[in-house]
Amino acid sequence: MSHPVDATKSILHPEVAAYLDSLTAAPDPLPLRMERKAKALGFPLVGRRAGRWLELLARMIGARRVLELGSGWGYSAYWLARGVGPEGQVLGTESDPRCIAEHRELFANHPLAGRIRLQQGEALATLRSLSGPYDMIFVDIEKEDYPRALELAVPRIRSGGLLVADNVLWGGKVTQPAAPDDVATRGVLRFNTLLHDDPRLEAAILPADDGLAVAWVR
Ligand SMILES: C[S@@+](CC[C@H](N)C(=O)[O-])C[C@H]1O[C@@H](n2cnc3c(N)ncnc32)[C@H](O)[C@@H]1O
Repeated sequence: MSHPVDATKSILHPEVAAYLDSLTAAPDPLPLRMERKAKALGFPLVGRRAGRWLELLARMIGARRVLELGSGWGYSAYWLARGVGPEGQVLGTESDPRCIAEHRELFANHPLAGRIRLQQGEALATLRSLSGPYDMIFVDIEKEDYPRALELAVPRIRSGGLLVADNVLWGGKVTQPAAPDDVATRGVLRFNTLLHDDPRLEAAILPADDGLAVAWVR
């Protein structure tokens, strides 16, 4: 993975981050278990505050069909599944079969399990094969692929739907010019520019955890 060491850390002042954490309780033991496991293994998840935003964004637009690019074990899918409600579905994509096996084990007998389906495969290839329309597409794959994800995702989101992406502040690296071989930072910088310049979108970045880009499709 091309995550810089600090990409999973909050870009907020630690005391402010701790205060926000104190307000965002985990709704049940599963997210806590996943957070602990991720910390022990150094596996990158969206932060809990970004997860809560995913839930609320999905709920605010009445999302029922959500597509996720880069699902890992399904931590972000957990929050999205809360947001889509009992009639909704989250289709996740994940290239690593071990993550999918881990997801099945973690969600066994969990009430939200039926709202999430993880499909193994390369996310952009899967996206190309789907016509949508989706209410919301959430992007959390390799950062060099973000610009291509945007190009493929926007036509598959309904008017009034959302394109959301994690790590768009990239541990603060976006404030510095990227080295020619730093394809991840270059991908994030290009994505952020494309997102804000696209006449089909209204975009802003929430400084939650590592930065959550939110774009509303006109
Ligand atoms: C940062 S982790 C995301 C975890 C998840 N979104 C969460 O917060 O719980 C990225 C995941 O995306 C997967 N991934 C990265 N690029 C991918 C691609 N092009 N296609 C499918 N999966 C990809 C990785 O294997 C990894 O599990």
